[in-house]
Amino acid sequence: MKVLSVFGTRPEAIKMGPLVRALGEAQHIESIVCTTGQHRAMLDQVMSLFGIVPAHDLDVMVANQTLNGLCSRLFERLDALYEQVKPDRVLVHGDTTTAMTAAVAAFHRRIPVGHVEAGLRTGDVQRPWPEEMNRRVIDVVSDWLFAPTASSRANLEREHLGGRIVVTGNTVIDALRQTVARLDGDGALRAAVDAPFGMLDPRRRLLLVTGHRRESFGSGFENICRALAELAARDDLQVVYPVHLNPNVQGPVNAHLGGLRNVHLVPPQDYLSFVRLMQRADVILTDSGGVQEEAPALGKPVLVMRDVTERPEAVEAGVVRLVGTESARIVAAVIDAISAPPSATGFDPGASPYGDGHASDRIVAALLEQPFTEFRPASRVAAIPFPA
Ligand code: UD1
Ligand code: UDP
Repeated sequence: MKVLSVFGTRPEAIKMGPLVRALGEAQHIESIVCTTGQHRAMLDQVMSLFGIVPAHDLDVMVANQTLNGLCSRLFERLDALYEQVKPDRVLVHGDTTTAMTAAVAAFHRRIPVGHVEAGLRTGDVQRPWPEEMNRRVIDVVSDWLFAPTASSRANLEREHLGGRIVVTGNTVIDALRQTVARLDGDGALRAAVDAPFGMLDPRRRLLLVTGHRRESFGSGFENICRALAELAARDDLQVVYPVHLNPNVQGPVNAHLGGLRNVHLVPPQDYLSFVRLMQRADVILTDSGGVQEEAPALGKPVLVMRDVTERPEAVEAGVVRLVGTESARIVAAVIDAISAPPSATGFDPGASPYGDGHASDRIVAALLEQPFTEFRPASRVAAIPFPA
């Protein structure tokens, strides 16, 4: 079975990395990887960390790309790729423009599609934009719907789609488990990864920040920056912010926060370094999907700068709080969260509602029609509450 995995951005590569490894080890599968290059530097960081060498690279990224420009380059190059490779299956991940075009292009050529991380929904097609639309379109055309959780399965069942639904857990927990094991097992590696952060003051609480959602461009990002500037004036806090390379993020963040005391603006970190920062953080402030899933397994409280999330499990468990993009609300929520005692730094997949580290094996077994047990979260999920 010729399985072509197509991905193009940082989070897709992190979450497909363990699956690509499992596909490569599986008997009866010829695993082929195509990166679209929707991201360049941020994708290449992950590829080299996971040791993935793509057979095909469509190299589509241009600076400040538009969604339609990106779609048209992707459809054209993917169609030629499918003609050349003639895969038996195409695997896509999540909700990016790469994933949506790769799935639809395969559908147009009647190639069966597997959607990894299927069934996430906010119910509002504008939020996240355009990802909620991408997910729905991919799920409509997919033959295998690899739902990470029971609630994503329920979303798919409500839509009466044609694909076979399998609850696998999220492959992000596979990636996190492998990365934490590397860090835990190698003191010299930890020291090397910590070295660029020698400026951090152990007496201050560490707030780790990421942000990049398109629907927050403009006033949303201005508000986020105002909140961070206000927080940075405190004596008990320091901020590390790896800034996404999108010019719509770089612009306001550098203009408002560049040079501020207690705010360390750094380039996007490779996954090893970012996992280490999450381990060291007291609180994480983010709009990222993946970080919402990773932090509960690391015992870290997360404040999400959005009004809705397609990942309700950790909110329900009390580890994630939605704080929107209004400055005063963000400031109040961070102050509230840092007033809690420092949380654990250990990795505990049992504390995660999102996966147990075996999602990739389940996906491979499902593709090969071999027996496996679906993912079920442990009963001790998410035991690190915010202050009452
Ligand atoms: C994309 C995905 C989003 C995902 C995010 C992860 C879509 C519509 N959006 O958003 O779902 O959460 O990736 O980060 O698919 N850039 C670089 N170098 C890089 C990466 C980006 O310079 O390595 C800059 C380029 O100017 C590029 C711009 O960022 O044009 C936007 O990249 P794009 O992939 O279109 O959007 P993201 O906001 O990154
Ligand atoms: N991440 C990383 N380096 C960084 C910031 C984030 O490796 O500097 C990882 C993070 O751990 C998570 C993923 O990138 O696995 C999230 O990517 P992003 O926020 O870009 O996209 P989203 O998850 O929102 O789609």
